Amino acid sequence: KPLVIAIDGPSGSGKSSVSKEVARRLKLAYLDTGAMYRALTWYCLKTGVDLHDGAAVEQASKAMPLEISTSTATEYVAVDGTDITEEIRDPRISSSVSAVATTLGARTELIRRQRQLIDQHHHRMVVEGRDITTVVAPAAEVRMLLTASEEARLRRRGIQLGGTQTKEQLAAQVIQRDAKDSTVVNFTQAADGVVTLDSSDLDFEETVDTALAIVSK
Ligand code: CDP
Repeated sequence: KPLVIAIDGPSGSGKSSVSKEVARRLKLAYLDTGAMYRALTWYCLKTGVDLHDGAAVEQASKAMPLEISTSTATEYVAVDGTDITEEIRDPRISSSVSAVATTLGARTELIRRQRQLIDQHHHRMVVEGRDITTVVAPAAEVRMLLTASEEARLRRRGIQLGGTQTKEQLAAQVIQRDAKDSTVVNFTQAADGVVTLDSSDLDFEETVDTALAIVSK
């Protein structure tokens, strides 16, 4: 039986960790679409593609030999055999990814690959990102928007980065990236039929439990 669980949300909403745990508990495959945009950013920087040249970024998206794991047990992202699992989390990538993600031609190509991966897993997958509930898989069996207050999101991002950055630096990074991203995808408001899960006052376990309750409803 098909079970696609589409989860969208902004940076620091807990999307990745919650999505992965939901997939693990339900024994579903898992796809982090943000990692694909990050991989494309890495590839463009590596091959000297100007991130503001839309045609060149689109071309790169089509040429990129990307490998991404869809298992909850292993996190693995590679381009042309180079393991970039860790590197795509660098601030260098985070600060450039929006330029790539706002290139419509590149989005079209990555969306095509995302749908292909969903097909390959016989539509049994948790897919997380910014446009999954609206564009990639609008017919998903379960669609949710994971939100959190700005304060909660900044707090979580701060913990994730190891707490070495000032509050101002963090705020600037997270808020600017969300602002850039939302020029092409609206992930701040739930579309019709999408359930909003506000995790501001929930811890990780509570958020996972709430998400699982939404799935079994
Ligand atoms: O670090 P964070 O969880 O906020 O972001 P991510 O999920 O790793 O995604 C990184 C970037 O990829 C986002 O800032 C967006 O620019 C882009 N993205 C997108 O445009 N559409 C998606 N479905 C997923 C990510």
